[in-house]
Amino acid sequence: METISGYMQGSIERASMALKNGSLVAFPTETVYGLGADATNEQAVSRIYSAKGRPIDHPLIVHISSFNFLDKWAIDIPEYALKLARDFWPGPMTLILKRSNLAKDFVTGGQENIGLRVPDHLVAQELINEFEKLGGYGVAAPSANRFGAVSPTTADAVEEELGDFLQTKDLILDGGHSNIGLESSIIDCTKDKPVVLRPGAITTQMIQTSSGCKTLFSQGISDVRAPGLMKSHYSPKAKVEIGINADPGDGFIAFENVPSPSGVIRLASPANIEEYARVFYNALRSGDQKGLKKIVVCEPAGDGMAIAIRDRLRKAIGLG
Ligand code: TXA
Ligand code: MG
Repeated sequence: METISGYMQGSIERASMALKNGSLVAFPTETVYGLGADATNEQAVSRIYSAKGRPIDHPLIVHISSFNFLDKWAIDIPEYALKLARDFWPGPMTLILKRSNLAKDFVTGGQENIGLRVPDHLVAQELINEFEKLGGYGVAAPSANRFGAVSPTTADAVEEELGDFLQTKDLILDGGHSNIGLESSIIDCTKDKPVVLRPGAITTQMIQTSSGCKTLFSQGISDVRAPGLMKSHYSPKAKVEIGINADPGDGFIAFENVPSPSGVIRLASPANIEEYARVFYNALRSGDQKGLKKIVVCEPAGDGMAIAIRDRLRKAIGLG
């Protein structure tokens, strides 16, 4: 495995060839880093599962270059889903749609649905474009972390998570810190109305306005399966607690205007909700690097991105 800058001349060509040859390429997106493989290559995709230690029946998101590849992978696309795709792609939104014949069981976890996303990051876009020029249809990529662990938002974090599980010809493309820092909103578009399966930067309000449909937020009413919806996901090794009371030696994450309790190790002091999302995973990760037993998180109030942060926080704690 080698880490190279995604902005270095020749790196995109090299990485797209690696994908075409069945190797894995971790790459930056605006949400978190993904661990990519040719979505039509069964062997390559199976290596994603072994590198992550992820159960084989959990579906992967296929990353495409644009709206134009949507109907290669999906059929019977409802009008409201087309609206969402037009309004929010490229961007931090994954649509779950009825799959076409191109989407095999090895990428959908045996489900009749497929998750699709057009990422909004220059390196990701160039990679997928170049891969499509080589005859590729899409890049299957989960977050580039071990199963159940915190998603990586930097190339260093990918190396820390997966370095031991990648092979010589695999690559990590470094594209800097992921700007959003939390995984995409996932929207189930297989029903007559959109259902939010995982909250993210595209909020329920935005989905409702764009689609013109009343939008449900679900944990459970949909029959699609998503491991991010299980309890105890996105977890660091340290015990995570919600609150403002921390003991000396505990890690502490809170907005910058919240003073640190005495003796705590301050892991992040974001100034606003966007910055909170951007630094959150790295702050949890740095707590583990410092070997902390406990990290206390003062959770953000409010709508929008705060909902996504509280969702991940509860998963990190194992509250579902
Ligand atoms: O922001 C993101 O979505 C990142 C970047 C790399 O694109 N990817 C990501 O992938 O977070 P992953 O696999 O770590 O989380 C995607 C979630 C999983 O819980 C997966 O099971 C669910 O989406 N998912 C994917 N395809 C699905 C499908 N066809 N039906 C239901 N859930 C699906
Ligand atoms: Mg993940």
